[in-house]
Amino acid sequence: MSLDGERFVPVIVLDDPARAVPLAEALRRGGIRCAEITLRTAAGLDAIAAIRDLPDFTVGAGTVLTPDDVDRVADAGGRFVVSPGLAEDVVERARARSLDVVPGIATATEVQRAVRLGLDRLKLFPAAPLGGLATIRALAGPFPDVRFLPSGGISAANAADYLSSPHVFAVSGSWMATRELIAAGDFAAIEQLSRAAVEAVAS
Ligand code: 3PG
Repeated sequence: MSLDGERFVPVIVLDDPARAVPLAEALRRGGIRCAEITLRTAAGLDAIAAIRDLPDFTVGAGTVLTPDDVDRVADAGGRFVVSPGLAEDVVERARARSLDVVPGIATATEVQRAVRLGLDRLKLFPAAPLGGLATIRALAGPFPDVRFLPSGGISAANAADYLSSPHVFAVSGSWMATRELIAAGDFAAIEQLSRAAVEAVAS
């Protein structure tokens, strides 16, 4: 699976596809080797295409809502898709296109549906408002084989705590590469915030 081994999945909202290469290089210098480029902006697919062949880097898409979105991501060269919620047709199309897929869930009912689809890695969204680690631990009771990607409200202050849980395979968020930092071209800050995140977990 293309997200295997990654501990941080930056959520990227990008307005200018020309920023994609320097952004990905800054993340990589900071020790983060993947990015979830959201389809929330028109630049998203071009940004994915711009970094699809970057060495030691895996690019995928976020805010993937429909099977057509999955096709566009696959055609652009994305390797994984993330969704805010769970949609069977998105999961099926991702599998048909050989893309890793991590749909979002917010309730036990949705986890149950996802498990019946054969999924064992799910995004908890929005993680902080839903109760964060306490909710993950509670869901892990009936679903011990599921591992979560919490997203929404993760920060430098709490990422290591989430990642210390055996039920969390990676954390996701925008704090190390905000839309504003990208738009300002502040790639030094993105590199520094990425490195700080990685080092906080390693220590
Ligand atoms: C999102 O969908 O925007 C992600 O969950 C990131 O949330 P964050 O901006 O709180 O990190």
